[in-house]
Amino acid sequence: MIKTISWKNNKAVFIDQRVLPAAEKYITCTSYKQVIAAIKNLTVRGAPAIGVAAGFAAALGALNLGELTPDKFRQKFFAICDEINQARPTARNLAWALERMKRRFTLVRNFPPLKITAALIDEAKRIYSEDIETNRKLGKNGARLIAQRDNILTHCNAGALATAGYGTALGVIRSAKGQGKKLHVYVDETRPVLQGARLTAWELKKEKISFTLITDNMAGFLMRQGKIDKIIVGADRIAANGDTANKIGTYSLAVLAKEHNVPFYVAAPFSTIDVSIKSGEKIPIEQRNPLEVTRVQGRNIAPKGTKVYNPAFDVTPANYITAIITEQGILKKPYTVSIKRAHQGVKH
Ligand code: MRU
Repeated sequence: MIKTISWKNNKAVFIDQRVLPAAEKYITCTSYKQVIAAIKNLTVRGAPAIGVAAGFAAALGALNLGELTPDKFRQKFFAICDEINQARPTARNLAWALERMKRRFTLVRNFPPLKITAALIDEAKRIYSEDIETNRKLGKNGARLIAQRDNILTHCNAGALATAGYGTALGVIRSAKGQGKKLHVYVDETRPVLQGARLTAWELKKEKISFTLITDNMAGFLMRQGKIDKIIVGADRIAANGDTANKIGTYSLAVLAKEHNVPFYVAAPFSTIDVSIKSGEKIPIEQRNPLEVTRVQGRNIAPKGTKVYNPAFDVTPANYITAIITEQGILKKPYTVSIKRAHQGVKH
């Protein structure tokens, strides 16, 4: 399996997703501020990977606090978590992981500082290893929906790189392939940052899964031609009613899928579901740097001074989603009911 994130000698190590597929480089972070920068500049990206990185960032923050009184430690540690939480606004897993880190702190707050730090490192490592386990379960659940010789379209990168390993949407594809199903994957290039062309294509090539790269604007034509049997995407945040924020372009795919009777699946761990948000309108959408749109691989493609709108995500209303694949099982409509029921069964 591709090593995307790890914790080594009290340091957080991330594969640098900015330079893939040209180079396989790793960056090492020794402070929580370095991890925040890595999340902001997309060295580490993808909702579950951001959650794991946030856990490691909080652990690094605690490690560097040293000997403090319990009250001071708590105050500083919570302030660090709040700062990490600002790194990116849309992926639910970021706040979810930090809530876990704070809960663990509260359980050990009266221990000596060294023991508190050890417990926080342990919690961050658990978030990491549980994410891989969750993806394997989710992948197995989703593989039931995949038929022999299916042609599957995916958008952005919801693979090992976007998680601690194995992936969500790509986890379903990996699992189905592991069961001996012959599949073909159509990969949307995913403008403006090209997570599909650079990252998903890289992963599929490494795993020897057959794929074809297309530009985002080709997807509708392929559906019309009957070339797509299913669409599977990941998620950055899912509201209590099933509305799903994911990489910009996901909504257009879902609308096209409905028109062409193509099942549209979202694959995500429960940590991506935000039951505190009733519907998609309340999901914060990140606006990113205009240069992502006006420059491709460092070269300007638009006249100087061109105005740009660059939302990194869109929201797909729940009624376009055929099912939500989670580690708890496959959730169906009405999602308000299925999410609530599954949420009650999840350990918090
Ligand atoms: O801006 P990114 O690359 O972090 O956006 C990532 C996505 O939209 C993914 O599809 C989503 O996080 C799911 S990853 C399993």
